[in-house]
Amino acid sequence: MTPQPVTTPHVSAPAPTIATREPTTGSVDGKTNPKPPASPTPKGPDWWLMMKAFFKQGKRIASFAPSSRFMARKILDGINWETAKHIVELGAGTGPITAEMVKRAKPHTKLVVIELDPTLCGRLRDRFRETPNVDVVLGDATKFGELLTERGIPQVDHVLSGLPLPSFPAVARDTILETAARTLTPDGTFRQLTIMPLIYYKLYRRYFENVRFRFVPFNLPPGGVYVCRGYRGSPAN
Ligand SMILES: C[S@@+](CC[C@H](N)C(=O)[O-])C[C@H]1O[C@@H](n2cnc3c(N)ncnc32)[C@H](O)[C@@H]1O
Repeated sequence: MTPQPVTTPHVSAPAPTIATREPTTGSVDGKTNPKPPASPTPKGPDWWLMMKAFFKQGKRIASFAPSSRFMARKILDGINWETAKHIVELGAGTGPITAEMVKRAKPHTKLVVIELDPTLCGRLRDRFRETPNVDVVLGDATKFGELLTERGIPQVDHVLSGLPLPSFPAVARDTILETAARTLTPDGTFRQLTIMPLIYYKLYRRYFENVRFRFVPFNLPPGGVYVCRGYRGSPAN
């Protein structure tokens, strides 16, 4: 495979460095009642919200449509729901992957779902407000270590990312992958979706010993999932 540039017209946004936090819906301890959404509840179907967000701030959103259910199923493939206690989703958008997780998650599996865009976060809060094991966080994925600490979560079983990670500044990408490596259980995986099949295989191989790619033809556009294990450290070190 030939090395590919890491910046493309589709995905090129720098990761914002600020963390915007508001009260969450649901609770990872399952004890508190869902709170009313702090961001206004957006109107319109998911594809419309994604398309609007894409045209407004394309680089950071990276995709003009939510992931298909085929993509969502593929990113979750092989997760052991009997044993999984904590799963983090970074860049959840309107929640197509969250929705598939909710179908599979046992009551003991807590899902921490992080999204930076307030409108998309509003959709997530509205959609999962009655789901006690989903904790929707309006925040920056580069801060997800702190967000987990605040919630008393030392370890997670899997990190699922919908972020346009290849186009993040290297420092932000390193932070996210280091945090994932530090918090994952020994059998845990970092799973990254893409709408550019295999293009970034080499990039993820720089960070992980073991990278498997799963192609997803039924997605708009076709894409896939990288399933990564065995963090090697930042390529910069
Ligand atoms: C390609 S979309 C994926 C959305 C959703 N996971 C899906 O599969 O349809 C990328 C998402 O990452 C979010 N995002 C981008 N940068 C982020 C950051 N630093 N922290 C949290 N979310 C971020 C965007 O707002 C957008 O919703």
